[in-house]
Amino acid sequence: MNRRQFLGATAASAALAVVPGIARARKQSTNDKLNIGLIGVWGRGLAFYDTLDHENVVALCDVNEARFADALKRFPNARTYIDWRKCLDHKGLDAVIICTPDHHHAFIANWALNRDLHVYCEKPLAISVEEARIVRANWLKKRGKLATQVGMQRHAYPNFNRVRELIRNGAIGELQSACAWGDRQIRRPGYPPAEGEPPAGLHWDLWLGPSPEHPYSPSYFAGGPGMNCLSWNMYWDFGAGQIGDMGSHTMDLLWNAVDAHLPTSAEARGEPFNPDVTPVTCESHFEHPANAWRGPIRVSWYQGGAMPESPSKWVDLRRIDHGAMFEGTRGYVIADFTARMLIPMGDKADMTYYKPPKPEETLPNLGDFVGQWIRACKDPTIKTACDFDYSGEMIEQLLLGLVAYRVGKKITYDPVTGRVTDVPEANRWLARTYRSGWTLNG
Ligand SMILES: NC(=O)c1ccc[n+]([C@@H]2O[C@H](COP(=O)([O-])OP(=O)(O)OC[C@H]3O[C@@H](n4cnc5c(N)ncnc54)[C@H](O)[C@@H]3O)[C@@H](O)[C@H]2O)c1
Repeated sequence: MNRRQFLGATAASAALAVVPGIARARKQSTNDKLNIGLIGVWGRGLAFYDTLDHENVVALCDVNEARFADALKRFPNARTYIDWRKCLDHKGLDAVIICTPDHHHAFIANWALNRDLHVYCEKPLAISVEEARIVRANWLKKRGKLATQVGMQRHAYPNFNRVRELIRNGAIGELQSACAWGDRQIRRPGYPPAEGEPPAGLHWDLWLGPSPEHPYSPSYFAGGPGMNCLSWNMYWDFGAGQIGDMGSHTMDLLWNAVDAHLPTSAEARGEPFNPDVTPVTCESHFEHPANAWRGPIRVSWYQGGAMPESPSKWVDLRRIDHGAMFEGTRGYVIADFTARMLIPMGDKADMTYYKPPKPEETLPNLGDFVGQWIRACKDPTIKTACDFDYSGEMIEQLLLGLVAYRVGKKITYDPVTGRVTDVPEANRWLARTYRSGWTLNG
């Protein structure tokens, strides 16, 4: 039975999650190499080459043909594609890594899941609420059979789990609220005007993909490898600004510690609305229901100069460019990606209530983040840290903040239906409009 037949023959994905022997039968052995397609071979794509040396790279896809020469030197047996829709039908493909601009992410991820492929998708998983919900729901049907991971690789820093332990073990008492912030500020007036012709080999129409038509400009390609996303991700049709960019990484530091799902409300304020460009300065706030270990909490995201208030005049939060803060009944934890500090506050914060974990009780380090996904592709019963469930809910929340920003009102959200229940005009901003000929569910 080949892989595809096996997947087709298995009715209940949930059951697979608890039957490791069955899932492992999918690949003969964890030593088998995966047949992988890399979609977006330059820029962020380069960061995967060392890992990919240990697997079979059978397909390379890029809309810029000039990028193939170097990629083929490294992976000479791969077939090249300029259109990811064709690449996904490469015979024998097991998995794809998506390193394209953000406006393709949910599309490629969803099409790949439809073809029973494992998916590693660079952050953000989606740029609209609807996209996040569709991709997540699709993966939930296949959980235990297909491995997914979103590129929030800082999650592997041990500090993420140290922060979680402090919160869960009660170092700040009962959690009341949590916020994360990022101060990157890249301002643009609007979409760049038409300028010149795309260079030979750059397929502009495929670069635009599902997004509305815009004229070519070299300014979309002005950045160095891995930084070029800062040339296009602030425009509504191509990204979600810093929410999708550093917001994905920094909210992850918070999300890992609070066990939140979807919020029941969102409100946001920021600089005046620009129909072309996502806001630089903005803050959004979300209400989250109680869970098994804590009461309801407020979660916030600040960006582009908007900042939470410091709990003390001798703590200058502005010195932390990307950070998170947790407020409890007995104090605060303030953290960046690699360090944290605990500030007990008030008369009751004598720390007698707090028992630090013994070494054997601490959470294990995640290790190699991409490696975890590779292992999970070979044994999908392995849980990946930033799968499409965890990452999908996290980005849905952040993108809902952009919807609240657009309507300029507090909105009430039904997490089950994915609809705004009290501000009808907000619902039109949950989804984006695609060019004809492009469908999310292909
Ligand atoms: N996890 C991280 O730390 C991190 C760091 C940088 C970038 N990223 C993410 O990686 C992605 C790519 O960012 P970048 O700066 O490399 O961008 P980029 O503009 O350099 O694009 C990367 C590659 O994708 C190709 N490409 C563009 N459209 C394509 C399409 N439709 N099909 C196939 N290939 C296509 C480009 O030609 C280029 O070779 C973004 O989503 C970004 O958010 C993540």
